Amino acid sequence: MSLQDDRKEYLNGELGDEFLLANPRELFSAWLEEYRLLGNSDSTAFALSTLSKDGTPDSRIVLLKEIRNEGFVFYTNYNSKKGRDIANNSNVHALFFWPEIERQIRIKGKVKKISRIDSEKYFLSRPKLSQLGALSSSQSEKIKSRTDLELKFDSYKSKSGGDYQCPEDWGGYCLSFEKIEFWQGRRSRMHDILVFEIKSNSEWSSFRVQP
Ligand SMILES: Cc1cc2nc3c(=O)[nH]c(=O)nc-3n(C[C@H](O)[C@H](O)[C@H](O)COP(=O)(O)O)c2cc1C
Repeated sequence: MSLQDDRKEYLNGELGDEFLLANPRELFSAWLEEYRLLGNSDSTAFALSTLSKDGTPDSRIVLLKEIRNEGFVFYTNYNSKKGRDIANNSNVHALFFWPEIERQIRIKGKVKKISRIDSEKYFLSRPKLSQLGALSSSQSEKIKSRTDLELKFDSYKSKSGGDYQCPEDWGGYCLSFEKIEFWQGRRSRMHDILVFEIKSNSEWSSFRVQP
Protein backbone atom coordinates (compact mmCIF):
# COMPACT_ATOMS: atom_id res chain seq x y z
CA MET A 1 0.00 0.00 0.00
CA SER A 2 1.36 3.41 -0.90
CA LEU A 3 1.76 6.07 1.81
CA GLN A 4 -0.97 8.06 0.09
CA ASP A 5 -3.43 5.18 0.49
CA ASP A 6 -2.66 4.80 4.20
CA ARG A 7 -5.82 6.31 5.68
CA LYS A 8 -8.21 5.70 8.55
CA GLU A 9 -11.46 7.03 9.90
CA TYR A 10 -11.37 8.27 13.50
CA LEU A 11 -14.39 6.83 15.28
CA ASN A 12 -13.30 6.33 18.88
CA GLY A 13 -14.77 9.30 20.70
CA GLU A 14 -15.91 12.89 20.77
CA LEU A 15 -15.34 16.11 22.67
CA GLY A 16 -18.66 17.93 22.83
CA ASP A 17 -19.01 21.62 23.61
CA GLU A 18 -19.83 20.75 27.24
CA PHE A 19 -16.12 19.97 27.70
CA LEU A 20 -15.37 23.68 27.25
CA LEU A 21 -16.49 23.96 30.88
CA ALA A 22 -14.09 21.24 32.03
CA ASN A 23 -11.06 21.93 34.18
CA PRO A 24 -8.20 21.37 31.70
CA ARG A 25 -5.92 19.82 34.33
CA GLU A 26 -8.63 17.34 35.29
CA LEU A 27 -9.40 16.60 31.65
CA PHE A 28 -5.71 15.94 31.01
CA SER A 29 -5.52 13.60 34.01
CA ALA A 30 -8.69 11.75 32.96
CA TRP A 31 -7.39 11.27 29.40
CA LEU A 32 -3.99 10.12 30.67
CA GLU A 33 -5.57 7.60 33.06
CA GLU A 34 -7.76 6.28 30.26
CA TYR A 35 -4.69 5.83 28.09
CA ARG A 36 -2.61 4.22 30.83
CA LEU A 37 -5.36 1.68 31.47
CA LEU A 38 -4.78 0.31 27.97
CA GLY A 39 -1.42 -0.91 29.25
CA ASN A 40 0.75 0.41 26.43
CA SER A 41 4.42 0.74 27.27
CA ASP A 42 5.70 4.27 27.81
CA SER A 43 2.16 5.62 27.95
CA THR A 44 3.43 8.74 29.75
CA ALA A 45 5.92 9.59 26.99
CA PHE A 46 5.71 12.98 25.32
CA ALA A 47 7.73 14.97 22.83
CA LEU A 48 9.36 17.96 24.49
CA SER A 49 10.42 20.77 22.17
CA THR A 50 12.92 23.44 23.12
CA LEU A 51 14.66 26.26 21.31
CA SER A 52 18.41 26.56 20.91
CA LYS A 53 20.13 29.92 21.37
CA ASP A 54 20.06 30.52 17.62
CA GLY A 55 16.30 29.82 17.52
CA THR A 56 16.55 26.30 16.11
CA PRO A 57 13.83 24.01 17.48
CA ASP A 58 14.67 20.56 18.84
CA SER A 59 12.41 17.76 20.10
CA ARG A 60 12.87 14.55 22.02
CA ILE A 61 10.79 12.11 24.05
CA VAL A 62 10.77 12.30 27.86
CA LEU A 63 8.54 10.63 30.44
CA LEU A 64 5.95 12.40 32.55
CA LYS A 65 6.58 11.41 36.17
CA GLU A 66 4.18 13.53 38.21
CA ILE A 67 1.24 15.89 37.77
CA ARG A 68 1.33 18.75 40.26
CA ASN A 69 -0.95 21.74 40.71
CA GLU A 70 1.77 23.85 39.11
CA GLY A 71 2.31 21.51 36.16
CA PHE A 72 3.96 18.40 34.77
CA VAL A 73 7.23 16.99 36.10
CA PHE A 74 9.87 15.19 34.06
CA TYR A 75 13.50 14.31 34.86
CA THR A 76 16.64 14.74 32.90
CA ASN A 77 20.24 15.91 32.90
CA TYR A 78 20.41 19.69 33.39
CA ASN A 79 23.55 19.90 31.21
CA SER A 80 22.01 17.94 28.35
CA LYS A 81 21.15 19.67 25.09
CA LYS A 82 17.57 20.19 26.31
CA GLY A 83 18.85 21.45 29.68
CA ARG A 84 21.07 23.99 27.96
CA ASP A 85 18.21 25.08 25.72
CA ILE A 86 15.95 25.53 28.75
CA ALA A 87 18.60 27.50 30.67
CA ASN A 88 18.58 29.94 27.78
CA ASN A 89 14.84 29.93 27.06
CA SER A 90 12.33 28.38 29.44
CA ASN A 91 9.52 28.41 26.87
CA VAL A 92 8.82 24.85 25.75
CA HIS A 93 6.22 22.81 23.95
CA ALA A 94 4.97 19.34 24.88
CA LEU A 95 3.12 16.92 22.63
CA PHE A 96 1.33 13.73 23.64
CA PHE A 97 0.02 11.40 20.92
CA TRP A 98 -2.20 8.47 21.83
CA PRO A 99 -3.12 6.77 18.55
CA GLU A 100 -5.05 3.88 20.14
CA ILE A 101 -7.66 6.33 21.41
CA GLU A 102 -7.19 8.81 18.56
CA ARG A 103 -6.10 11.69 20.75
CA GLN A 104 -3.41 14.35 20.75
CA ILE A 105 -2.62 16.92 23.44
CA ARG A 106 -0.47 19.99 22.72
CA ILE A 107 0.87 22.08 25.55
CA LYS A 108 2.64 25.43 25.50
CA GLY A 109 4.32 26.41 28.71
CA LYS A 110 7.37 27.31 30.73
CA VAL A 111 9.65 25.04 32.71
CA LYS A 112 11.39 25.56 36.03
CA LYS A 113 13.68 23.25 37.98
CA ILE A 114 11.95 21.48 40.86
CA SER A 115 13.58 21.57 44.31
CA ARG A 116 16.80 19.68 44.87
CA ILE A 117 15.14 17.70 47.65
CA ASP A 118 12.38 16.48 45.31
CA SER A 119 14.91 15.54 42.63
CA GLU A 120 17.01 13.60 45.13
CA LYS A 121 13.94 11.82 46.48
CA TYR A 122 12.89 10.74 43.01
CA PHE A 123 16.45 9.76 42.06
CA LEU A 124 16.69 7.44 45.07
CA SER A 125 13.34 5.83 44.18
CA ARG A 126 14.72 4.72 40.80
CA PRO A 127 16.20 1.24 40.24
CA LYS A 128 19.91 1.17 41.14
CA LEU A 129 21.01 0.51 37.57
CA SER A 130 19.02 3.51 36.31
CA GLN A 131 20.67 5.64 39.01
CA LEU A 132 24.03 4.39 37.81
CA GLY A 133 23.11 5.11 34.19
CA ALA A 134 22.25 8.72 35.05
CA LEU A 135 25.48 9.08 37.06
CA SER A 136 27.77 7.72 34.42
CA SER A 137 26.31 9.48 31.37
CA SER A 138 27.10 13.06 30.39
CA GLN A 139 23.86 13.20 28.46
CA SER A 140 24.10 14.57 24.89
CA GLU A 141 27.93 14.70 24.95
CA LYS A 142 29.98 12.88 22.29
CA ILE A 143 31.80 9.69 23.27
CA LYS A 144 34.17 7.65 21.13
CA SER A 145 32.56 4.23 21.39
CA ARG A 146 30.04 1.99 23.15
CA THR A 147 33.00 0.38 24.92
CA ASP A 148 34.05 3.73 26.40
CA LEU A 149 30.48 4.31 27.60
CA GLU A 150 30.39 0.91 29.28
CA LEU A 151 33.79 1.49 30.86
CA LYS A 152 32.43 4.70 32.40
CA PHE A 153 29.42 2.80 33.75
CA ASP A 154 31.67 0.06 35.22
CA SER A 155 34.05 2.55 36.78
CA TYR A 156 31.18 4.41 38.55
CA LYS A 157 29.83 1.05 39.67
CA SER A 158 33.08 -0.07 41.27
CA LYS A 159 33.84 3.40 42.77
CA SER A 160 30.56 3.96 44.54
CA GLY A 161 30.00 0.67 46.32
CA GLY A 162 26.27 0.54 45.54
CA ASP A 163 25.14 3.81 47.16
CA TYR A 164 24.52 6.39 44.51
CA GLN A 165 23.93 10.10 45.11
CA CYS A 166 21.78 12.16 42.78
CA PRO A 167 24.24 13.99 40.50
CA GLU A 168 24.25 17.80 40.82
CA ASP A 169 23.42 18.13 37.14
CA TRP A 170 20.47 15.74 37.21
CA GLY A 171 16.92 16.49 38.33
CA GLY A 172 13.38 17.42 37.53
CA TYR A 173 11.68 20.23 35.70
CA CYS A 174 8.08 21.29 36.16
CA LEU A 175 6.27 22.43 33.02
CA SER A 176 3.52 24.87 33.92
CA PHE A 177 1.14 25.27 31.04
CA GLU A 178 -0.14 28.47 29.49
CA LYS A 179 -2.14 26.81 26.74
CA ILE A 180 -3.39 23.26 26.31
CA GLU A 181 -5.17 21.85 23.28
CA PHE A 182 -7.15 18.60 23.26
CA TRP A 183 -7.65 16.84 19.91
CA GLN A 184 -10.08 14.00 19.45
CA GLY A 185 -10.19 12.37 16.02
CA ARG A 186 -13.66 12.27 14.42
CA ARG A 187 -15.24 10.92 11.27
CA SER A 188 -14.56 12.63 7.89
CA ARG A 189 -11.66 14.68 9.36
CA MET A 190 -14.24 16.74 11.33
CA HIS A 191 -12.14 16.40 14.45
CA ASP A 192 -12.87 18.02 17.81
CA ILE A 193 -10.29 20.53 19.03
CA LEU A 194 -10.76 22.34 22.32
CA VAL A 195 -8.23 24.90 23.53
CA PHE A 196 -7.74 26.21 27.06
CA GLU A 197 -5.67 29.31 27.76
CA ILE A 198 -4.67 29.52 31.37
CA LYS A 199 -4.83 32.85 33.22
CA SER A 200 -4.21 31.56 36.72
CA ASN A 201 -4.41 28.25 38.55
CA SER A 202 -8.19 28.35 38.65
CA GLU A 203 -9.01 30.65 35.73
CA TRP A 204 -8.80 29.99 32.03
CA SER A 205 -10.60 30.76 28.81
CA SER A 206 -11.66 28.00 26.46
CA PHE A 207 -12.76 27.82 22.86
CA ARG A 208 -13.22 25.40 19.98
CA VAL A 209 -11.10 25.66 16.84
CA GLN A 210 -11.79 24.21 13.40
CA PRO A 211 -9.99 21.02 12.47
C1 LIG B 1 10.51 6.25 25.40
C2 LIG B 1 11.60 7.22 25.75
C3 LIG B 1 11.62 7.79 27.01
C4 LIG B 1 12.62 8.70 27.37
N1 LIG B 1 12.59 9.30 28.58
C5 LIG B 1 13.51 10.24 28.90
C6 LIG B 1 13.40 10.98 30.12
O1 LIG B 1 12.45 10.84 30.89
N2 LIG B 1 14.40 11.87 30.39
C7 LIG B 1 15.44 12.08 29.53
O2 LIG B 1 16.30 12.89 29.85
N3 LIG B 1 15.54 11.44 28.36
C8 LIG B 1 14.59 10.51 28.01
N4 LIG B 1 14.65 9.87 26.81
C9 LIG B 1 15.81 10.16 25.91
C10 LIG B 1 15.55 11.49 25.17
O3 LIG B 1 14.59 11.30 24.14
C11 LIG B 1 16.84 12.08 24.58
O4 LIG B 1 17.46 11.16 23.74
C12 LIG B 1 17.83 12.49 25.68
O5 LIG B 1 17.15 13.08 26.77
C13 LIG B 1 18.85 13.49 25.14
O6 LIG B 1 18.16 14.60 24.61
P1 LIG B 1 18.87 16.02 24.38
O7 LIG B 1 20.22 15.72 23.81
O8 LIG B 1 17.98 16.74 23.42
O9 LIG B 1 18.93 16.69 25.72
C14 LIG B 1 13.65 9.01 26.43
C15 LIG B 1 13.59 8.44 25.14
C16 LIG B 1 12.58 7.59 24.81
C17 LIG B 1 12.51 7.07 23.40
